[in-house]
Amino acid sequence: MKHVLVTGGAGYIGSVVCQTLLERGHSIVVLDSLEEGHRQALPPKGIFFQGDLGDESLLKNIFKSYPLEAVLHLAAYCQVGESVEDPEKYYGNNVSKGLVLLRNMRTFGIKKIVFSSTAAVYGEPLSTPIAETHPTQPLNPYGHSKLIFEQVLDWYQKAYGFKYVTFRYFNAAGAIDRLGEDHHPETHLTPLVLREGVPLTVFGLDYPTPDGSCIRDYIHVRDLALAHVLALERLDDLRERIFNLGNGQGFSVLEVIEAAAQVRGRKIPFRPGERRRGDPAVLVASSAQARKILGWEPQYPDLKEIIASAWRWHQKFPRGYES
Ligand code: UFG
Repeated sequence: MKHVLVTGGAGYIGSVVCQTLLERGHSIVVLDSLEEGHRQALPPKGIFFQGDLGDESLLKNIFKSYPLEAVLHLAAYCQVGESVEDPEKYYGNNVSKGLVLLRNMRTFGIKKIVFSSTAAVYGEPLSTPIAETHPTQPLNPYGHSKLIFEQVLDWYQKAYGFKYVTFRYFNAAGAIDRLGEDHHPETHLTPLVLREGVPLTVFGLDYPTPDGSCIRDYIHVRDLALAHVLALERLDDLRERIFNLGNGQGFSVLEVIEAAAQVRGRKIPFRPGERRRGDPAVLVASSAQARKILGWEPQYPDLKEIIASAWRWHQKFPRGYES
């Protein structure tokens, strides 16, 4: 059993990570501002602090009060488009406030951290599937802010003996029992294909893909969470530090719409739209390294099953957590 701090533990991925840690017998303290997270997504057990990552006195209080061994750092802003409009918001939160976290970890002698990064660090892929060795050339401040923090961790390892694992998530999707995806505004494809009365626009049907729509690698949120548990247990002895997390299989936007139609048992109307800025045509992970080194094996690789899990959650919470 490990005692860990989870930042962003009330968010979509963070809440499932918390639930999974508790099921595996770990003990957690959650820090979340609830700006993007939801009180209803908090774990039934565990200790919760509502507050900001950059709140030095709150961090001191948390680290002083609990025998924490490691931090799982998921708190971040994560909207690609918004980051292009307002880079300061992204560097301020995802980099500057992250440094406050690291400073306080050092002060209290906590040097183990699992960091949530993103496939957005790669930018436009030069080859596919994308391995961790692929060049990193982010196309937006969101991806860049995550890449900077990855590099900070590497220097903290060299200088201060930090032990870290960075996960580069591909497209998180799906839900588990009471925990699902609920952003305001919602911009992600998999929750949008389940909504009633919201016209769906396909952003670009002129990409160089078989059906003209973008291809992504959708990975069940529970599988992301399971990787965190594996990493936590192996932080001391790992030589590899960066892992892609995806299924290694790409699905086009039209295929996602079709899978959702099968799950819902009805056609899903959509209209063709313009390409969205900053969208690469194809993003598919090679997760060979996570499989080999961490022994990670996705439990829910089937796209239809991923969408069905999100649909079950949506039926329980048709208007998101507020319902
Ligand atoms: N899409 C549509 N219509 C919509 C919404 C999305 O056609 O209304 C398309 C997008 O153009 C894209 C695909 O559906 O081709 C998936 O889009 P999402 O917005 O669901 O996800 P992204 O691939 O843009 O982004 C996700 C994460 C980011 C992360 C990125 C890395 O949300 O945080 O994966 O791959 F950076």
